[in-house]
Amino acid sequence: MKNTLSFLLWPEPPIAITAMNSSRSPVVRFLVSTISKILDKIRLQIVYKRDISEDQRITGQIWPGYAETMIGLKRLDSLQHCIETVLKDGVEGDLIETGAWRGGACIFMRAVLAAYEIENRKIFVADSFEGLPRPDSEKYPSDKGDKHHIHTYFAVSRKDVENNFRKYGLLDDQVVFLEGWFKDTLPKAPIEKLSILRLDGDMYGSTLESLEILYPKLSSGGFCIIDDYALPGCKAAVDDFRSGNAIDSEMNIIDWTGRYWRKE
Ligand SMILES: C[S@@+](CC[C@H](N)C(=O)[O-])C[C@H]1O[C@@H](n2cnc3c(N)ncnc32)[C@H](O)[C@@H]1O
Repeated sequence: MKNTLSFLLWPEPPIAITAMNSSRSPVVRFLVSTISKILDKIRLQIVYKRDISEDQRITGQIWPGYAETMIGLKRLDSLQHCIETVLKDGVEGDLIETGAWRGGACIFMRAVLAAYEIENRKIFVADSFEGLPRPDSEKYPSDKGDKHHIHTYFAVSRKDVENNFRKYGLLDDQVVFLEGWFKDTLPKAPIEKLSILRLDGDMYGSTLESLEILYPKLSSGGFCIIDDYALPGCKAAVDDFRSGNAIDSEMNIIDWTGRYWRKE
């Protein structure tokens, strides 16, 4: 599952020139999309090969073209360890990821529950399904100038994510989609208790909102997992939240960006 969801069984194929178009200047973007539309009519596509190493793919340091998750093998291994630990220790609660993108980490969480024949826990998949929000720099000064929202690469529709679950035979009523901005969906989500709280929203605001709304629901013994500690905004939100709430549980290092702690 981990290799497949990370597309590591295959070499990274070239990607369509339109795939990362939002990072280009308006003029180049216009040219690329116009030429691509014309070529598409005669069923031709321009693709390009990116200069990425196997190590970058394995450690989740690239924006992949085809994988269903970008978090890399160590963070998947760690996620498995956290889920198996809460199951073994009988820590109550559902599992959530805030920031699902193509759904790969959530599909993996569902697969672990399936492997252990767990039917009384749900996987909550929280995402706008339209990419990251524009920064609200008045409320969250750390997000000033954040450019994540310009990348259409992060906008994966709910339908596509559902299809990804379906491909793995893992779309069922244990999977619950929370569609919309975290600040709107998380407060009214039908969640009583969580055993796994996985945060992957990249920005200060997205991380802090998830922590403020969901951390009180995390059971004692549950895991709070941070995907983006290498991003300054996310790190600041985690550090602010921990210090503001006097959380001094040991922060464990997963890899170059992943962290987790266990709630006491
Ligand atoms: C880096 S991607 C997540 C990667 C994913 N966890 C994986 O396994 O590869 C970040 C996701 O967070 C979502 N996101 C970030 N901030 C959000 C917010 N405030 N509300 C809703 N979705 C948000 C984006 O739409 C995007 O899909």
